[in-house]
Parts: sequence; C-alpha cells; structure tokens
Amino acid sequence: MLGMMLYVDNFAENLKGVKRKLSYLEEAGVNVIHLMPFFDTDKHESDGGYAVKDFRKVRRDLGDMEDLKALTVACHRRDMCVCCDFVMNHTSDQHEWAIRARQGDGEYMSRYFFYDNDEIPKQYDAIVPQVFPVSAPGNFTWIEDVRHFVMTTFHPYQWDLNYHNPRVFNEMVYNLLYLVNQGVDIVRLDAVPYIWKEPGTTCRNLDRVHTIVRMLRLITEIVCPGVLLLGEVVMEPEKVVPYFGTIEKPECHMLYNVTTMASIWNSVATRDIRLLKHELDKVSELPKDYVFLNYLRCHDDIGWGLDYGFLASLGMDEFSHKKYLNDYFLGNAGYSDSRGAVYNDDPVGGDARMCGTTASLCGIETAIESGDRERLQKAVDLDIMLHSYMLMLSGIPVICSGDEIGRLNDYSYLEDEEKKYDSRYIHRGRFEWELEKKKKSGRSLQGQIFERLSEIERIRASHTAFLGDADVRSINTYDDSVICVSRILDDEEIIGVFNFSEHEKTCWPGAEGTYRDLISGEITPAKEITLAGYGMYLLRRERSY
Ligand code: GLC
Repeated sequence: MLGMMLYVDNFAENLKGVKRKLSYLEEAGVNVIHLMPFFDTDKHESDGGYAVKDFRKVRRDLGDMEDLKALTVACHRRDMCVCCDFVMNHTSDQHEWAIRARQGDGEYMSRYFFYDNDEIPKQYDAIVPQVFPVSAPGNFTWIEDVRHFVMTTFHPYQWDLNYHNPRVFNEMVYNLLYLVNQGVDIVRLDAVPYIWKEPGTTCRNLDRVHTIVRMLRLITEIVCPGVLLLGEVVMEPEKVVPYFGTIEKPECHMLYNVTTMASIWNSVATRDIRLLKHELDKVSELPKDYVFLNYLRCHDDIGWGLDYGFLASLGMDEFSHKKYLNDYFLGNAGYSDSRGAVYNDDPVGGDARMCGTTASLCGIETAIESGDRERLQKAVDLDIMLHSYMLMLSGIPVICSGDEIGRLNDYSYLEDEEKKYDSRYIHRGRFEWELEKKKKSGRSLQGQIFERLSEIERIRASHTAFLGDADVRSINTYDDSVICVSRILDDEEIIGVFNFSEHEKTCWPGAEGTYRDLISGEITPAKEITLAGYGMYLLRRERSY
C-alpha cells in the first residue's frame, strides 16, 4: 500500500474534483487516500478543518455527502481505500451542542467541561501541558454568555468533549458509523490520547482512553469489520505502542511512526544516523503485525520528541540540541540550505517545532534561488534518499500531496490575518497543476523527482522482501552518516544503504556474496560500499545456483 494525504480544496477544489483526479493519484502509485478534514467548519476558526461544526455535513464549498459516497465508490473500483479523520476530542464552538451549552442548557453543558469559577481550571493548568503554548495558551476559555470556563485543550474555539457523559460516547459512535456508511475504509482517530480528562493528571494517555478505543474497535469489528482504525498518537514510542492493544484486546490497527519521522530529520541536520539506527532496531523488535504509517511530512509541525536519553549518551544536550535543529532547518546553522519556519516558538520551554515542505526542508527552494545546479542536484538527491529510506521501512508509507513533484513552501498564509500565526500553513499550500504538467519532461525538477520516486515505489511493490512479514534489521556500516537496512523474506534479501551526508562516504556493511543494485541494475559489492553525497543503493542478493 502507498498512501497520500491531501486537502480536498488544495488538491482539486472539491470532492468531485478529487474524483476526477483519481487517475493522477493512480499514476503516482497511490492506493490509500487520506482526505484531510472536509466537514463543516467555520471559515476562519477552523484549525485546518479540525474544529468540526457538524460531523454529518460536508463543508459547503467542498460538496456534500453524496459526493463523498461517489468518491469512495470510485476509489473502491480502482482498488483504492479512503481514510478520513474522526475528530473525537472536541467540537467547534459552533457545533449544535456548543450552541445549546452556551445558552445554558444543562444537558449540553454536561457534554463539555464547564466550571463556574477558575478553581478547577487552575488545578488542571498546573499539571496539564499545553498543545499550543504560544498561539493558544492555556487549557480553558471564559464563555461570557454562560459565565463559565470551558475546557479548550487546543484552540479556544475547540471545546473538549466530556466522555464521562455516556451520551457523548454514544452520539460520537453514531457519527463514526455514519461516516463509515459513506464508504470510508480507514478512520483516523484524531488526537486520541487526549480524549479522557481527569483532574490531577496530565490528561494524556489515561487508562480510560484505551477503554474507549477498545470499545470503538469492538463496535467497528461487529458493525463494519472491513474498517480499520488509525490512531493519531504523536508521542514517544512507549506511549504509542500501547494503542495497538494486546492480542486478546486489540485497539488500533495502525499508528503513525512519529518518532522515526522526527529522527529522520534529526539525522539530516546532524549527518548522524545513530539515533535513527537505534529507533529502527527498536521498531524491528516489535511484533510484525503492528502496522505503522511512515511519513516524512504531514499537515502538522515536526515536534522534536526525540530520545534525549540516547542522545545524551552521544553527548547531546536536549535544550541546545533542539535549538540547533531549529537553527538548522531555518537555514542558519550546520551548512544548511534548509528553509523552514518555526512553530510555537516558546522561549521559556525552548520547545519550538518546525514546519516546511519536504523539498524546502531538503534545500530545494534555496538551491533554486541560488541558480546553482550542483546545489540543486544535492537537494533533490537528499529528498529522494529520504523518501527511499521511508519506503524501505515496514508499514505503509504516506506521501504528502505535492511532495511527489517537489512542492515548495507556500508563504501566502503570511498575508492572512488569522493564519499568519500558524506556520503549519506554510506546508498546506495548493497543489500546483501547472508544475505537475512539467513533470512530463524527465529533465524538469518535477519530472526528476516524480520519476525517481515512482521507480523506488515500483521496486518496493514488486519485491517480496518489502512485505510486512520480512525480517528487518540494521547492519553496522562503521560510518555514522550511513545507515544500512536489511530486509529478508523467503529467499529474497534486499539491503538498503543510505548516506545522510552531503559528502562521499565509504562504509563497510561487510555483506558477502553478489548483489545487484535494483535502481541501476548493476552488480554492486556490498562488503565495502562507496556512496555519493546523499547517495543510496537498494541491493538485492543474487541467487547462487
Ligand atoms: C491533530 C491534528 C492537528 C489538530 C489537532 C486538533 O493533532 O493533526 O492538525 O490541530 O489534532 O484537532
């Protein structure tokens, strides 16, 4: 499977438009489409669609439920699945329940967390970390209409649902089933670690969250067993893995591999793969039926939730390392051509995060401006190498729409009064069909990226060793910039070698036997390998007859 996430309007104006563009997605090798939230939301206070006004209504300019149904049918005909968000932690403050609660209706107030004074909110605030410390500080919002505080973990216009009230659970399950009845195959449980609140706790990953996810799994398994649950758990691995549940009590079918994503970018900035290798070894030890979604970029920021214990053993200190990473991706340190934007830069916590498209973070934007061909080639090689590493991992790779043609940052959000404080919009730009046309020429930047990526995707799709059952392990290369991954299934062995440095490197994976590079088709030794800067190989062991 190969996924792609896209905004309906940015990609094709509306749902009907997406349906018309399915051939393009097919050409890009995609068979899982994640449609970013398309539900009715406020024009201004939308959090990119994650502040839902009505879980059964499509945002008017994107179409209607009939269009969604027609789209899922069309996708199924092409053997494609559709993934949609289920934003279950909160509603928009314009959702019908919120409107009634604002009018003082007790039943609806009890579907949220209301307090008539700040005593309990203060207790929560003392312990509960903040999601948007700069753009939306605090976890509560004063609602003058009812003279109460309401819990708003995310933005002030996103009211947290109170699952202590069983009606909330029931109603939300009806909404979920309504959604899957439109033909949705994969339900992305948005911000799932947050859904249960308890005073005196951090309100993250509480036991009851797992109970609720378990109930969702049971319900979907009984009612619509073809549906898969994808948990959005943007946390460290120890917190993520429990969302798979156990064999007797499974929870999510799939989870995001967020730590690997952040570690990949860490390796780009440091040219050091040791943390990435450490993560790979940990993931490889997990049961093979744990399915991860691998990605380089998504619609959100990159948070530096790295394994700082491990980095400390390499002599890196958390605070200064995060600062270095942000400086690197701003293009200010470490010989960087990267061009990102900081997100929620909180000088107190030193916890700023990073935004930007893959291509811009890889230096393509800077290189184009410099007019230096060699620099541009390096940046493109880095972009392809990173995608290839992602495709080498077990699980489902998800490409961010536009990355397949090297989409650059979009700065138009800075002109928008409401969006200009949310740098995530820098990588949420419109898909440029004009650039897509250019991809037809193999010499164009778009053509080169599209072709090279497609080739790796084809290799991945046509070799047994890329299946999820393969044994995956890292191989020592004796060079901290080069990571080597071996995949073995049945009688096929493939070794991927990836150079995270811009300099030529020679490494020693020490693999005996004859190997053929699946990209160039040439016999390539795997004992000692020399790689160009940001170079890579996908080596398949030749059978010895
Ligand atoms: C998820 C989404 C993010 C959104 C948040 C609140 O983390 O990915 O974009 O801001 O949930 O719904």
